[in-house]
Amino acid sequence: MHNSWRDINTLYHIYPRSFQDTNDDGIGDLPGITSRLDYLSLVLGVDAMWLSPFFTSPMRDFGYDVANYRQVDSDYGTLDDFKKLLDEAHRRHMKVMIDFVPCHTSDQHAWFKESRSSRDNPKRDYYTWRDPGPDGGAPNNWLSQSGGTSWTFDETTGQYYLHSFLSAQPDLNWDNPSLRKEMTDTVRWWFEQGVDGMRVDAIWGISKDPNLADDPQNPEFHGEHPSEYGHFIHNKCKYGPNFTNYLKELSDVCHEFENRQMIFEFYPDDKIGDFYDQYHQVAAEVNPDVASTFFMELIRSPWHADMLGNGLDRYINYAAKDALPVFCLGNHDQPRIVSRIGESKARAMALLNLTLPGLSVIYYGDEIGMENGELTPSQVRDTFSPLNTSDTTRDLERTPMQWDHSARTSFSQVTPWLPIHKNHRTINAMTELSDSSSMLSLYRRLVRLRKQYPVLRIGSFTRLFVGSGYVLAFKRELDDQRVYVVVNFADQPQDIQLPEICSYLVSSQTAPRERESREAKPTLRPLEAALYIA
Ligand code: GLC
Ligand code: CA
Repeated sequence: MHNSWRDINTLYHIYPRSFQDTNDDGIGDLPGITSRLDYLSLVLGVDAMWLSPFFTSPMRDFGYDVANYRQVDSDYGTLDDFKKLLDEAHRRHMKVMIDFVPCHTSDQHAWFKESRSSRDNPKRDYYTWRDPGPDGGAPNNWLSQSGGTSWTFDETTGQYYLHSFLSAQPDLNWDNPSLRKEMTDTVRWWFEQGVDGMRVDAIWGISKDPNLADDPQNPEFHGEHPSEYGHFIHNKCKYGPNFTNYLKELSDVCHEFENRQMIFEFYPDDKIGDFYDQYHQVAAEVNPDVASTFFMELIRSPWHADMLGNGLDRYINYAAKDALPVFCLGNHDQPRIVSRIGESKARAMALLNLTLPGLSVIYYGDEIGMENGELTPSQVRDTFSPLNTSDTTRDLERTPMQWDHSARTSFSQVTPWLPIHKNHRTINAMTELSDSSSMLSLYRRLVRLRKQYPVLRIGSFTRLFVGSGYVLAFKRELDDQRVYVVVNFADQPQDIQLPEICSYLVSSQTAPRERESREAKPTLRPLEAALYIA
């Protein structure tokens, strides 16, 4: 694959466990993804994919607990299966990004087994070990994002080890130079296999306070339980002095190859400072040619035209200015967008996502409007947070892809690992393909337009006021091409004034809008987003 990531329009995010099963175990696998490449490249028209982890793992966090970075878990197939997927994707001119988890391994990783075996094992320092605190308890007050303390006592050597997530996910110690070399070697190895890029998981803890000082109390927190995560400001257990240095070391490996890219998973924290300074620090200071961050505010922002518009402007024209901007509406950790905000708004956001500069990410199933799964307590599989229930578990956004209206929706021949949503009889790729007003048809139109008009990918981004505070509007411009994107955040029609007479290209709404004559003063329907060309 010799084209640059800057030529790529859309990145399709696959959760391998839920995409397509081919060997009748109810679990999606790599050959399954290969078998669906025509859907991705021909039906939907995307030009890159990101695969959530498929490496050897005891699956305590469904692959985000890696036991071997260079092997494929038998749930998903073999390394040969992966190479075949890569070849087949490249043959279709699609890039493949894998998921790299740099800050922790599984407790079943050979390094951790060695590390925990004795205090003087050469791998001891690959992880963070400490004596008990003065009271015999945890060495400091750091909390795990999965709940409770982030320290677990290990009998064998009488010390605690650190884990920012589950105790089955011990944190790697990036201050150890040999560990850093192992990690950069792993990245290099995957690039040598032909992988085009990496989504880099949970980067905030890559560097920690060298003295392991307590996290300060958060004065604004009024939660009830003293160990709740928000009780503290997490500026000691995260964002240490080498935060950007280590990320740079990691992403510098991209420079040894052609056209490789890293996208960091990063949720800036408003307790730490300005959101956009934090995005800027990671995207621009680390290595803007080859590394950038996802913009998470399309997921997190309140439904407010001006707030979102400001955020977009600051991210695009400041934070990610020299880096590749990356936008997404959801992922495997967030409730499905249609369930979060409803179908009309989800359609408007789809249009927005696919008309922003850089790379637009589509989480599998969002293109057909999949909703949060419906699970009984006994069907919950994700044990990442003990606080999760069948209403809040991340399983909700990980249910099997809805390919068609058949009982198992052609995902599998057997009962799948998570239940298929009962709405699959109407919400599925096959049915939606023949319905011009479906979510899938909207996505196909948008993906096609994004390819057809490079101004959408690489044109400048300028916010506009078009006469209503409820309307988020911006101009995209490249050479003599100008397009306008308008999103009506109100559930009332809005009369707007475009800067010049335009033709309408696409609307987010179900009933495809009549192709109007050229005009400068359209009326937007409630919650409608539209794209115009000058
Ligand atoms: C990231 C992943 C999430 C995982 C966590 C720990 O946030 O997206 O799924 O549980 O890191 O690896
Ligand atoms: Ca399978």
